[in-house]
Amino acid sequence: MVTFEKIKKLKGEVEVPADKSITHRSFILSAMANGESIVKNPLISRDTKATVNALKACGVQFEKIEDGFKVISKGYENFHEPLDIINCENSGTTARLLTGLFSPMKKYFVLTGDNSLKKRPMGRVIEPLSKMGASIYGRKGNKNLPLTILPSKMHATKIESTVKSAQVKSAVILAGLQLDEETIYVERVKTRNHTEVMLKYFGVNLDIFHNEIKVPGRQILKPSFIEVPGDFSSSAFFIGAALMFENSEILIKNVGLNPTRTGFIKVLKDLGADISISIHNNTFEIKGDIFVRHSNLKGGRIDGEIIPNIIDEIPLLGILGLFCENPLEIRGAEELRVKESDRISSIVHNLHVLGAKVDEYEDGFKVYPLDKVNRNGMLKSFDDHRIAMINILLAKKFGNFLIDSIESIDVSFPDFIERFELLEV
Ligand code: S3P
Repeated sequence: MVTFEKIKKLKGEVEVPADKSITHRSFILSAMANGESIVKNPLISRDTKATVNALKACGVQFEKIEDGFKVISKGYENFHEPLDIINCENSGTTARLLTGLFSPMKKYFVLTGDNSLKKRPMGRVIEPLSKMGASIYGRKGNKNLPLTILPSKMHATKIESTVKSAQVKSAVILAGLQLDEETIYVERVKTRNHTEVMLKYFGVNLDIFHNEIKVPGRQILKPSFIEVPGDFSSSAFFIGAALMFENSEILIKNVGLNPTRTGFIKVLKDLGADISISIHNNTFEIKGDIFVRHSNLKGGRIDGEIIPNIIDEIPLLGILGLFCENPLEIRGAEELRVKESDRISSIVHNLHVLGAKVDEYEDGFKVYPLDKVNRNGMLKSFDDHRIAMINILLAKKFGNFLIDSIESIDVSFPDFIERFELLEV
């Protein structure tokens, strides 16, 4: 168990660790290219190490250089068959993207993960890849890890998304670009587009029109230089903190501002938050600074097409609901039930512990402004990094609140507490 002393406000400048989604993709795409790529400022965390280890098992070399890695590969067509099973640890991105990448390789792969990942749905990638002719068998009727990929002859086809998931989209694209003909992926709702943006940067030809992505077959990736920007989803904890602690002002520097990720800013501005961004450079992904000043939030209802864009920030929004003038309702977020924990029930649990009124729905929740905090309970992190970081904010807001465990922050933001404490005044 851990606890934190109450703090009053936050002031100053901070940088956040590198983007998790972009780091995974930097390693994967560099490994797919034939030659030497450079990945500067990657996120080194439990999740991204799982991706590195998986690629090393296929014969890709990672050489440590200053502030990053040189990735040396003979290209995806020359991957080795791993000698052992691949452990994706806690990382859904590793498991799903690599299932797509490996499935057309005509080799034998076994993927597994930790207890949390073994419960998360893999059917969502097994189904579309099977339609493309992949031979993949997972536990529990092809729903879960461990799964086995067997050699098979895959063919290009048109896949229409059934879930709002960038991981599923990415799995299909990574498989599709290795096939003979053109694969088409149609998204129901736009999800984060790092895979598409970065593949183009690696020289891959993709034809994207609205929600339809055409992936020509037999594509070659050219080795590239990547500098990973800060993770917007990690910056969200500082944005949220500035809005929770009165009189706070924080400047968050060098954050990735890809518009398919920054819906949290739009939502907060609509609620009345004082946030401004300045974009400084635009290489392969947009990057800039975020300035946020404490403001009063109104409350309201959030649902529809914005949901996939803010999916990782919704638990934090739930907590900000406590400090709004009116209730805050979030709907259409059923995907939260299959994240590192069931994030709807994790947040609802902790809101109850605090003594808040909250309504739970299958696809979201409605949080009412907090009248009086109940100090007797213990916040639970459910082995989920984002829930653990939210609990740290709550413990610091209300003072000496017990949290069962915060070890999981290693997954995306290992030095969260140290960076946070530099801002405390
Ligand atoms: C991710 C996509 C999202 C997100 C996850 C990372 C990615 O998952 O929640 O943290 O890197 O593609 P889904 O695509 O399954 O919604």
